[in-house]
Order: sequence, then C-alpha cells, then structure tokens
Amino acid sequence: MLQSRPTAQMLCPLLFLGLLVLVPAGSVEIQVPDDPIIALFGQDAVLHCSFAPHADFSLAELSLIWQLTDTKRLVHRYVGGQDQLADQGSGYANRTALFYEELPRGNVSLLLRRVQISDEGSFTCFVWVRNYSSAAVTLQVAALYSKPTLHLEPNKNLKPGELVTVTCHAFRGYPAATVLWQDGHGNNITENVTTSQVANEEGLFDVRSVLQVELEPHSTYSCLVRNPVLQQETQASVSITAQHLTFPAVALWVTVALAACVLGLLGALAYVCRRKIRQSCKEEEQQQPTGPEEQDEDCGEPKTALQPLKSAENKEGNEQEID
Ligand SMILES: *[C@@H]1O[C@H](CO)[C@@H](O)[C@H](O)[C@H]1NC(C)=O
Ligand SMILES: *[C@@H]1O[C@H](CO)[C@@H](O)[C@H](O)[C@H]1NC(C)=O
Ligand SMILES: *[C@@H]1O[C@H](CO)[C@@H](O)[C@H](O)[C@H]1NC(C)=O
Ligand SMILES: *[C@@H]1O[C@H](CO)[C@@H](O)[C@H](O)[C@H]1NC(C)=O
Repeated sequence: MLQSRPTAQMLCPLLFLGLLVLVPAGSVEIQVPDDPIIALFGQDAVLHCSFAPHADFSLAELSLIWQLTDTKRLVHRYVGGQDQLADQGSGYANRTALFYEELPRGNVSLLLRRVQISDEGSFTCFVWVRNYSSAAVTLQVAALYSKPTLHLEPNKNLKPGELVTVTCHAFRGYPAATVLWQDGHGNNITENVTTSQVANEEGLFDVRSVLQVELEPHSTYSCLVRNPVLQQETQASVSITAQHLTFPAVALWVTVALAACVLGLLGALAYVCRRKIRQSCKEEEQQQPTGPEEQDEDCGEPKTALQPLKSAENKEGNEQEID
C-alpha cells in the first residue's frame, strides 16, 4: 500500500532536507525589519537585528559589529563577551548599548540614544558565529512640527479686495513638511503660495509659508502643515469676519456724516447769527445814526448783537455766560 503512493508526503520532507543541506553549515541567518525604523528626534531608537543561535551557542563565540553602511564607521562592537568601543565613531560615544540579557537568544538589536538628524541612514549589523552574515537596517528620523502661527499683513483697517499676506510659521519638524492652504470651504488655495523650509543647526526645519490673497469678507484661511513620515497634520486658521472688515468702514462714514452735520449746523447757526446782527445793526442805524467805525464796533459787541437773539430764544440763565 505504501509503495503504491510514494508521492508528496514522502518527497516534501526530502526536499526540505535538501534545502537545509544547501545552506552552509554554521552560517547565521539574520532577521532585520524590511521597513525603515522611525525614531523621534531626541528620543531613543532600537535598531532591530537578530539571528537564531544554534543549540550550544555561547556568547564567547559571538562577534558583533554595528557600522554605518556607507562609511563603514564603527557604531558599536561586541567581541569575546564584551563591548569593544575603543575605535567607536565620535558622536556615538555613550549613545549606544546592546540588550545584554537578550544576546544569548540571538537578539543583537542596538539601542541608540538621543537620536539626531545626522543618525538618519543605513546601519549594517554584522554577526559572526562560526560563520558570518550581515544585514542592513534603515533609520528614519522624524520630529513633530509645532502648531503653526499665522500672521496677517496688513492687519488693520482691512477692506475687501485688498491684497493681504498671510504668513504661516511652524517650527522644529523633520523631514520637510508639505504645506497646504485652504479657504473656509476647504478648497485648496495653495496656488499663490511661497514656502521655504530652512534647517537649523540641529537639522530640524523651520517652515515659513506665505499666502498672497485678495481679501474677501467672511473669509477663513487655514494653513496645514503635514509631516509626511509621521502622518502628522497640524494647522492654524485665521478668520476675517464681516465685522472686522466693515466696522472701520462704517465707523469712517458715520464719523464723516456726523462731522458734516455738525459743520452744517454750525454754518447755519453762523448764518442766522450774522443775519440777526446785521438786522439789529440796521435797526440801530436807523434809530441813532453814528460814524461808520463806531457803528461797526458797537454792532460787533456781543451784548448789543445778542440781545435780540437772547430775548427771542434764550432764558435768563444764558445772560451770565455771555457777560
Ligand atoms: C561618556 O561618559 C563618560 C563617563 O560618564 C564621560 O567621561 C565622557 O566624557 C562621555 N563622553 C561623551 C562624548 O559624552
Ligand atoms: C530584541 O530586544 C529588543 C529590546 O528589548 C526588543 O524590542 C526586540 O523585540 C527583540 N527582538 C527579538 C527578535 O526578540
Ligand atoms: C493667484 O494669483 C492670480 C494672479 O494674481 C489670481 O488670478 C488667482 O486668482 C490667484 N489664485 C488664488 C487661488 O488666489
Ligand atoms: C493644492 O494645490 C497645489 C497647487 O495648485 C498642488 O500642488 C497640491 O497638490 C494641491 N493639494 C491638494 C491636496 O489638492
């Protein structure tokens, strides 16, 4: 019965054995993550690397080197059961460690403390146990952007139709951000925008985006700063309300109208006064004619001039003030 069907069940274990034989004895198979390891700026990162140790593996037979893939600079070395850091690259001093209790299990992951922007890149994990193997791990550094601040220029006496500059600032992020501007309806208004991203001495970016727009009443301008690695989106909005826009205009017209009214009233009053003065002068002239100079002076005096006015319109109380 067995001989009649010597197919899959018997061949598969044989095939598997054959594959094992093809791998050189003692060679180590290293496991590293395929995707970049994302580390936050200033925080600690773990660069994962591990192998499956053979049954009678002892730490004394392990040699481990972590180095930069490009420059071969030494990041960390562990040989003969202890760290060997004499020729460690400057900049890594006191920033690296292994998980020593994990080593017997073949976990040779590296702890990198206080990650900097310059740490970004590829690290190679070399493992020797009877034979050697290596694999590379990519470190991607990221930093969250601060919530943006918005600045409006000019920011006073805004009128619809006026060209305004809205400046959006976000700080200390990494890597470079994508900046998107939206109006109050969520429309993309990133058209007339200039965005600059300047790295500071730590390598973190300060983002400055400038929107030039013709002001519309009831308008909202939002600046969205997105960190492409962290999928972080932080935003700020400025709303220019109708009141903000129209209040100065209304106030101006009210002021002008009031001023015109007051001036008109004053003018009318002056005209009426002059007429009354002339009238009383003529009356006086007719009653007691005098020289032209004296006549003018007399008429110019408030008492004589305002007497008829006062009697006509004012009560006694006003007389004191005039005196
Ligand atoms: C690392 O730590 C040692 C001991 O704490 C210290 O003497 C040394 O200056 C440190 N090196 C750096 C580069 O911080
Ligand atoms: C190795 O150790 C690190 C730190 O404890 C841990 O995060 C990681 O998951 C370990 N890797 C494996 C394969 O066990
Ligand atoms: C960009 O500027 C042009 C010319 O100044 C203008 O015609 C256009 O409407 C502006 N686009 C937006 C979205 O404001
Ligand atoms: C917004 O508009 C800008 C410029 O027109 C364009 O580059 C960008 O891809 C747009 N973004 C979205 C999310 O539509």
